[in-house]
Amino acid sequence: MIDPQPLQTKGSQTSQRDQQWPWWPLLPLYPYGKRATHFEELIPGQVWSFEQLQGVYYVAVPIRLTVVKVPGGLMLVNPLPPTQELRKGLAALEAEHGPVNAIVLPTASGLEHKLPLGPLARAFPDAELWVCPGQWSFPVQLPLSWLGVPAKRTKILLTDGVPHPEVCQWISLGPLDLGVGRFQEISCLHQPSGALVITDALVGIHSKPPAIFDRDPTPLLFHARDRGDQPLSDSPETRRRGWARLVLFASYLRPHCLRVPAMAELLRYAFRPGLRSWKAHFGVYPFDWQDGWQEDADALMGDDEAKVQVAPVLERLVLPRAQQAITSWLEQLESLSGLTWVIPAHYSAPLSFSTQQASALRTEIQQKNWAPSQENWEFLSGIDQQLLDLNVVPKNPFFKG
Ligand SMILES: [Fe+2]
Repeated sequence: MIDPQPLQTKGSQTSQRDQQWPWWPLLPLYPYGKRATHFEELIPGQVWSFEQLQGVYYVAVPIRLTVVKVPGGLMLVNPLPPTQELRKGLAALEAEHGPVNAIVLPTASGLEHKLPLGPLARAFPDAELWVCPGQWSFPVQLPLSWLGVPAKRTKILLTDGVPHPEVCQWISLGPLDLGVGRFQEISCLHQPSGALVITDALVGIHSKPPAIFDRDPTPLLFHARDRGDQPLSDSPETRRRGWARLVLFASYLRPHCLRVPAMAELLRYAFRPGLRSWKAHFGVYPFDWQDGWQEDADALMGDDEAKVQVAPVLERLVLPRAQQAITSWLEQLESLSGLTWVIPAHYSAPLSFSTQQASALRTEIQQKNWAPSQENWEFLSGIDQQLLDLNVVPKNPFFKG
């Protein structure tokens, strides 16, 4: 396992201004208009990571733009909002490795990856843009041109070719019919580094909170508490505890061990002295964690290495009737020569991942009870059932022919 190194951006001092992102109302997620970016070199001289946080009500997980070295410069995969801080980091890499010559949006559906494409494209006017086929958005269908993506230099992955085929091999997961649009993700095996750059297909979750929280651990400390009148106290233990709960929220949306207290109970502990601030949400903490939450969180996280898995939201909401799509994608990975790492767009990276690990994960998925409906899965299952009842999603997501 490579120990990721913080990337020094030469001669640059990060200011609050550099972290501003004025377009946050387009997708109003925490941390809204101020986004810190965390830089790491993942594979020396070959692959770099730029992470920001994204979420709702302090439930924030890292979202990543991956930079890979390609002939003539750099390729960006999975767009992020180009704050000044991010642009300075990319400029430092360009000075050493050459200009950004390609920007890739490898997913058809992920709005959080799609919205930053336009602004990022404008920051690099000479780069070629590549997007996954079948772009869509829900509930409002937004054409890419409305999102500020310049049509003239945009190409469709696979249909119009692929960027840098001399060093990259491109593999498709899907397409699947989600009713409102398609699910598809095009992964890139960057041969010089052995890194497979993906978007949402897999995640690897570590029990140690991601380094980006060192900038501002408030979301971790906020959720580490049991009641709203407890102060936000900082220690390695409270950070881990808060992180474990964030992982449960992000994985299951409403985890099984979570009770939402009645309003009267909430207000009894709210507005206490020392907590009358936005940061502490005025002492309102509308969650009551029941016994068993730690064990549930432990099952999702690895201590020595990040635990590689299909994210429960993807399994239960996007692919509940398409287990075969993920297993045939893994089968394709099993024949990739040189596969060494997976770099997802969320949580930890790089994840050590060989063809043997791809095969073992495929067997595990084939043997497990895919997309269950009990306990932690109940809430996700309820959403899926509602979508089925409303005929929003089809029973059979596989395209015919
Ligand atoms: Fe995503």
